[in-house]
Amino acid sequence: MNNKILDGKKLANKLNLELKKKIKEAVEKTGIIPKLATILIGEDPASKVYVNIKHRTCKEVGINSKIVELDKHISKEMILNEIDKLNNDPSIHGILLQIPLPESLKNDVPELLEKISPLKDVDGLNPINKGKLFDYIEESGPCTPKGIISILEHNDIELKGKDVVIINRSNLVGKPLIFMLLKRNATVTICHTSTKDIDRYIQKADIIIVAVRKPKFITKERIKEGAIIIDVGINRIEGKLCGDVDFEDVLDKCGKITPVPGGIGPMTVAMLCENTFTLYKKQTEAS
Ligand SMILES: NC(=O)c1ccc[n+]([C@@H]2O[C@H](COP(=O)([O-])OP(=O)(O)OC[C@H]3O[C@@H](n4cnc5c(N)ncnc54)[C@H](OP(=O)(O)O)[C@@H]3O)[C@@H](O)[C@H]2O)c1
Repeated sequence: MNNKILDGKKLANKLNLELKKKIKEAVEKTGIIPKLATILIGEDPASKVYVNIKHRTCKEVGINSKIVELDKHISKEMILNEIDKLNNDPSIHGILLQIPLPESLKNDVPELLEKISPLKDVDGLNPINKGKLFDYIEESGPCTPKGIISILEHNDIELKGKDVVIINRSNLVGKPLIFMLLKRNATVTICHTSTKDIDRYIQKADIIIVAVRKPKFITKERIKEGAIIIDVGINRIEGKLCGDVDFEDVLDKCGKITPVPGGIGPMTVAMLCENTFTLYKKQTEAS
């Protein structure tokens, strides 16, 4: 494989194998199997695929899993009630609310995330866990940003003093990354749809992290020679997956690049398993 490729699939497989060993040892000690519950609301086909991949990987590493499937017309109160049940179920160690939610529930997301116990909040999106990021505590930080940091670190990509441009300001990707990158002494710039003359920032970046939902958004004219590109985007064109970067176009000019598929996707799932195990350890050690 081209040595410019940051192979997320290979790294995730390695991390999952290491985790499997740790889980086996912990289960032998406690007699308790870690368990993740995912709340899936509505019929979004992409969400169903992601949830199935997450739960298949959980099974591979020794985490039991349960998918709570709810109708898209369900009321907020009923979802809160389901979350409560999972919060109070001692056999569940991690809870994931699969986002995006159906349009009618979009405004309820903050309240629903707040309801997930911070001790079981596997994607670190409860306000308490989000707040911990301010103090650089990442233990159960959001899985995608953690996966991005992990792939950079495992490939010995120095962050200290680097100019990192993130094109995304969502709670799931851009905002948590600000703190994770600052912790590692990078200089961080966030760009979004209101950024004036965005190329001014992209062109100077040592590392570009892009998640804009737009295929071929990053092309070779937009980057500097040797830039490292982390492509978080997941788009489907004629049934085929692609990211936000024109991969073939930038390959010669960039320093390193994550592919889609096989980059940040599998890393996100690996971090989900890791976070579930972290929460499990806290709960079983406390009991
Ligand atoms: N690989 C994984 O595991 C993984 C995990 C999570 C997400 N994703 C993917 O990452 C992408 C983003 O997800 P998300 O939930 O963060 O999406 P989102 O909430 O829609 O955020 C998209 C961001 O991109 C910005 N943006 C859009 N068009 C732009 C443009 N022309 N110029 C500058 N900024 C622009 C938006 O700016 P405004 O804020 O101004 O609107 C926003 O901040 C999606 O493709 C998603 O599937 C992948």
